[in-house]
Amino acid sequence: MSIAFLNDIFLPLEQAKISPLDRGFLFGDGIYEVVPSYAGKLLGFNAHLDRMKDGLKGISIQLNWSREKWKSVCDELCIQNGNGNLGLYLQVSRGADNKRYHAFPENVDPTVFCFAFEIGASPSADKSSAKTFSVSTEEDLRWQRCHIKSTALLGNVLHFQHGYDNGDDETILYNDKHELTEAAACNVFIVKNCVISTPPLDNQLLPGITRNLLVDILQKHSNLEIQERIVHMDEVNNADEIWITSSTKEIGPVIKIDGRPVGNGMIGDIWVEAQKLFTQHKYDY
Ligand code: PDD
Repeated sequence: MSIAFLNDIFLPLEQAKISPLDRGFLFGDGIYEVVPSYAGKLLGFNAHLDRMKDGLKGISIQLNWSREKWKSVCDELCIQNGNGNLGLYLQVSRGADNKRYHAFPENVDPTVFCFAFEIGASPSADKSSAKTFSVSTEEDLRWQRCHIKSTALLGNVLHFQHGYDNGDDETILYNDKHELTEAAACNVFIVKNCVISTPPLDNQLLPGITRNLLVDILQKHSNLEIQERIVHMDEVNNADEIWITSSTKEIGPVIKIDGRPVGNGMIGDIWVEAQKLFTQHKYDY
């Protein structure tokens, strides 16, 4: 049985109830994080909390929780849910008013809801056992504040569904200039002639914790060239390797894009190096 956390109480997930007037439900008015945890060890916890803090500030939700309080909730969720390979979902909404009205309510406490779900084992840098991914592509039609990890994910859901309906695992998105932004629930990297590139952080994409860890680890611990720069879709379509990164996947090698093979259609050597270094250094942060 899965144990959740709702407004200061741990309880079985199916007993967690939220008012239909909660602004998370009515407006998607909230912020969330997904923190990976392997055998009780949280990955990138401080970075996730920093992003949560930025998001709450960005949409003016006041929640006076210390880092220690978040840490103790996360640790307890891991313990109560068996300390396996878990994604910890942490959500803060603007809370439940007594009416539906767009402006921020006064004197309403935010709702804090957390639960744990199973994720795959931390991937090893092994070509023969690694899970591979196929992607569709589509113009990015979401809002212009994609750097905020908002619970209002309808745009992402519709883009993800487009790939799913094509039998793919993800949808890679591009802006009206045909420049890569990210994927529906991942960041994106490409490799060409051993040079790794990923779009720079701006309002068009989420500052992914996995993305940022990977960039830092590669810069510190490898001789590989890594560029944060505008990446055109022509480059994505002609890349030797494409990777999608997220907290629940780490670095996912993409071997098919819009039905065509990426590079030679197999996992690339640079992915092996990157995943190996990521595995070695991911807990340094
Ligand atoms: N998705 N971009 C988007 C739009 C995302 O939703 C995510 C994460 C990422 C990768 O971010 P990170 O490395 O911090 O997980 C990029 C989470 C896992 C989700 O919504 O389930």
